[in-house]
Amino acid sequence: MKVLGNLGGVRSPSELGRKLEEHDYLADEGLAVACFLALRMGRPLFLEGEAGVGKTELAKTLAKVLDAPLIRLQCYEGLDAAQALYDWDFPRQLLHLKAAETAGVRDVGKLEDDLYDRRFLIRRPLLRAIEEPGSVLLVDEIDRADDEFEAFLLEVLSDFTISIPELGTIRAERPPVVIVTSNRTREVHDALKRRCLYHWLEHPSHEREVAIIRRRLPESTELLAEQVATAVHRLRGRDLLKPPGIAESLDWTEALLALGARELDPGLAAATLGAVLKYREDQQAALADWGRRPG
Ligand SMILES: Nc1ncnc2c1ncn2[C@@H]1O[C@H](COP(=O)(O)OP(=O)(O)OP(=O)(O)O)[C@@H](O)[C@H]1O
Ligand SMILES: [Mg+2]
Repeated sequence: MKVLGNLGGVRSPSELGRKLEEHDYLADEGLAVACFLALRMGRPLFLEGEAGVGKTELAKTLAKVLDAPLIRLQCYEGLDAAQALYDWDFPRQLLHLKAAETAGVRDVGKLEDDLYDRRFLIRRPLLRAIEEPGSVLLVDEIDRADDEFEAFLLEVLSDFTISIPELGTIRAERPPVVIVTSNRTREVHDALKRRCLYHWLEHPSHEREVAIIRRRLPESTELLAEQVATAVHRLRGRDLLKPPGIAESLDWTEALLALGARELDPGLAAATLGAVLKYREDQQAALADWGRRPG
C-alpha cells in the first residue's frame, strides 16, 4: 500500500501510542488506531466527543510526536473564508500607495502589482497549513462554524489547493495532517465526515484516568488519583448539565493538592467542588448524593 501521509517514522498504532505517551498523552487503543490510520492514509481525522476528553490536546501532542508545526483554526459562528484562508493588509497597502504617490510613481500597472505583493498578504491558518509542508492543522470545534464554512472547508480539504486571484494557484507540496474536532452541539454534514476518518472520544476508563492524573500531576498520591477518578466517574453517571471531563479531574486534583490533601474526604470534596462542577444545579446534585447540604 502506498503511504500517503506524514508518518514521522511511526510504524504501528502501538508505537504511536507509545510516542504520544512520551509527551504525556495517554491514548486508548481505539484512538491510537484511528490516529495511525489517519496518518497512514493521509486522511483528516474527525474527532467528536464531550468537552474536556482530550480532542484538542491530541492534535497538539501529535504535532510534537511528528515534530511538525501546529496550526490551529479555532472555529466560531460567523467565521468566513477570509478569516480562515487569507486577507490583504488594507492599511499597509494604503500606506504603500501614499508613499508611492509622494515619491511621484506614475506607473499604475506596477503600482497595482506592488499592492498585491506577498508582503501585503495576511496568511491565515488554512493558507499557512497548505504552505508549510507536513504541518498539523487543527480545525477546532467545527460545530461552532456555519454550514457555509463547512462547505468551504470541505473544498479545501479535498485538494489542498487554493486560488488567490492576484497571485495564482497555491498547491500543498505535502498536505497537512488534519484533525477536525467537534463537541457535537450540532451535527456536521455527511459530506465532510465522508472525507474524514471518524472517532468518538469517550471518557477514559478508570484505570486510564488514574494514569493520566498521575502522569500530569506526579505530586499526587496513587490514593488521591484513585479517589478523584472514582468520584468523577460517578459524577459522569449522573444526569448532569455538564459532566466533568479529564480537564476537570486534573483541576480537581490540583485544587486538592493546593490544599495539601493526600486523600479525598467528603469535606474537602465539597470545599473544592468548584474545580470540577461549574453549574450550581450540578453542585447541588453532587452534594445531595454525598449527603451534604449546599454551603
Ligand atoms: N488522553 C489524555 N492524556 C493526558 N492528558 C489528557 C488526555 N486527555 C485530556 N487530557 C488533559 O485534559 C485537558 C483537556 O483536554 P482538551 O482540552 O484536549 O479537551 P477537549 O476535548 O478539546 O475539550 P473541549 O471540547 O472543551 O475543547 C488537556 O489539557 C490535557 O491536560
Ligand atoms: Mg478542545
